[in-house]
Amino acid sequence: MTLADKLAAEIGEGGPLTVAQFMTACLHDPQFGYYATRPALGEAGDFVTAPLVSQMFGELIGAWAAVSWQRMGEPAQVRLVEMGPGDGTLMSDVLRAARTAPGFLEACDVWLVETSEPLKARQAERLGDAVSWAAALADVPGDAPLILFANELLDCLPARQFVRTATGWAEQVVGLGADGRLAFRMAPTPANLLLPDAREGAVFEQSAPQEALGAELGARVVRDGGAALLVDYGRSLPGFGDTLQALRRHEKVDPLACPGEADLTVHADFPAVMAAARREGASAAILTQAEFLARLGIGERAEALVRARPDKAPAIGRQLNRLVAADQMGELFKACCLHSPGWTPPAFEEA
Ligand SMILES: C[S@@+](CC[C@H](N)C(=O)[O-])C[C@H]1O[C@@H](n2cnc3c(N)ncnc32)[C@H](O)[C@@H]1O
Repeated sequence: MTLADKLAAEIGEGGPLTVAQFMTACLHDPQFGYYATRPALGEAGDFVTAPLVSQMFGELIGAWAAVSWQRMGEPAQVRLVEMGPGDGTLMSDVLRAARTAPGFLEACDVWLVETSEPLKARQAERLGDAVSWAAALADVPGDAPLILFANELLDCLPARQFVRTATGWAEQVVGLGADGRLAFRMAPTPANLLLPDAREGAVFEQSAPQEALGAELGARVVRDGGAALLVDYGRSLPGFGDTLQALRRHEKVDPLACPGEADLTVHADFPAVMAAARREGASAAILTQAEFLARLGIGERAEALVRARPDKAPAIGRQLNRLVAADQMGELFKACCLHSPGWTPPAFEEA
């Protein structure tokens, strides 16, 4: 039995799945889901994320967190939270860099929000008992200001897909082909859905879980004070396009070909996330990853690392390029900050 068999049987009985339902099954099915059973981050796995490219990424986010705390007036306690912490590398780099801000770590109550049991085990190996875990942000106590970061979390939060046909919008769903295998199909869109005007053939993605996270973070920083930093690949302006992507051993594969065996993502919908946070009264701003890291001083950090280890200069140069070059992660990836009104977290001045 594979996840493809299981889903085909479910679809045969209950009808097609939305793309969002399909993504949820592929990522989180308890028996077969990618994150539930075989998350493989890193060069030897399926995909590489920014913290795994270079320690500079996490160190600068550590500096961002520490300066945020200072700008908040150095509260005696803050919840330092990472959502979707992968193998724990990012939090480990953040905590090391944050040591340089006197008093910051002493004020931090550190939490990881994670749904994957195999990844929780890897995080525990790396971070030991310096952190606590929660399965959802709502389970992290809310009686202190929040400093939260998440890298490549939004892209795991599923989206539905709608296609503009000659006669109006239709929903792209996962059904069965004539051969009984999983196949994309068109279904009518629910009547209550408000979709924008678009030319024929346009694909519109809508992620209720991404918007819900924007709203939850917005409400939380307004209530408790603080800031949430979301870094991911995605759009900074509303737009169209099919961004569903499956990655296996660094290669793009057909999203329907091997459910549960590949990482499956959609682009972060930052405009929708920011709008949801603003509706809760939060402030929101966005930069490209290149601009965000430049404003935090990645150029100077790279020079310092090269001075300490001249033999590593070529590797450090390659890592810097991967993080900030326009044709690498620099432009496609964005850094979005949702924060309580009345102050501005570092890097987002006049963003
Ligand atoms: C693409 S990995 C990114 C890992 C890490 N942030 C990094 O940059 O290397 C996505 C992470 O989000 C976690 N995740 C996926 N869906 C989640 C959810 N609904 N709530 C919390 N974590 C989730 C995964 O288990 C994994 O740790």
